[in-house]
Amino acid sequence: MSTAYLNGVFLPLDQAHVSVMDRGFLFGDGVYEVIPVYGGKLFRLGPHLRRLQNSLDAVRIGNPLAGKDWESMLARLVASNEGRDQTVYLQVTRGVAPRRDHAFPVDSRPTVFAMCTPCLVSRDIDNEPGISAITLADIRWQHCNIKAITLLPNILLRQQAIDADTAEAILIKDGYAIEGAASNIFIVRKDALKTPPNSAALLPGVTRDLILELAKTNGIPWREADITVEELAGADEIWLTSSTREISPVIRLDDRPVGNGKPGPLWNRMIRLYQNYKEAVRQGMAA
Ligand code: PDD
Repeated sequence: MSTAYLNGVFLPLDQAHVSVMDRGFLFGDGVYEVIPVYGGKLFRLGPHLRRLQNSLDAVRIGNPLAGKDWESMLARLVASNEGRDQTVYLQVTRGVAPRRDHAFPVDSRPTVFAMCTPCLVSRDIDNEPGISAITLADIRWQHCNIKAITLLPNILLRQQAIDADTAEAILIKDGYAIEGAASNIFIVRKDALKTPPNSAALLPGVTRDLILELAKTNGIPWREADITVEELAGADEIWLTSSTREISPVIRLDDRPVGNGKPGPLWNRMIRLYQNYKEAVRQGMAA
């Protein structure tokens, strides 16, 4: 049984319980982060903790831990669990209130929960099959930059993708491709990389930002600009990125091949740069 953290206590995951009066349970009133761990090291912890702070500020929950306390708690959690490669899930809810009322309770204490799972990605880059995706209308709200635990639209969209025998939904709003149901989107056209600029319409992905950094430092042309559905349909490559999937090449979109129907050359280059970066983190040469 893996070790979890709940409100200051480390304990076996199956013994971690919260009240049914917790606003996370009753309203989905909370925010979360998913942080990969490579070689026992938390990957891009600074950007994840900054995004957590932004999410907490946006929903007006006071951060229950100082930055160094998050760091020490998460380091202890990772050390308490098996495996050098893991994924940390953490969430902060508005806490337990005496009665169910939409308005904020007067003095509740946030509930802090974190757990580790074994790393999902084990990748054979040379034999990457790629994934299929479908486009669906973006039915979410107007604050998608907040990493809220309230994920019902994302869940329904992802399930619609699965029901159509695909791995992920690409969300379309006003004629533009915004992001995946649980991932950011990149396209490649004429050897240049393009991803939508950050806005309230999408989650500012930590993986996305690292890919842009790697593009910059390696002389790969890139642009932050809106992606029209026509550009999406005519893209040479489409990638979906997240902390758990890293960089997935989309080889079929809406039942038509993307490019030549195989992971493209720029994906091949970027996934190697990404793996090298992970290795540097494992060696303590990068964060
Ligand atoms: N989701 N956009 C959405 C809507 C997401 O849910 C995620 C990640 C991303 C990618 O963000 P990052 O690169 O920081 O992981 C973009 C996580 C993995 C999840 O919900 O499990």
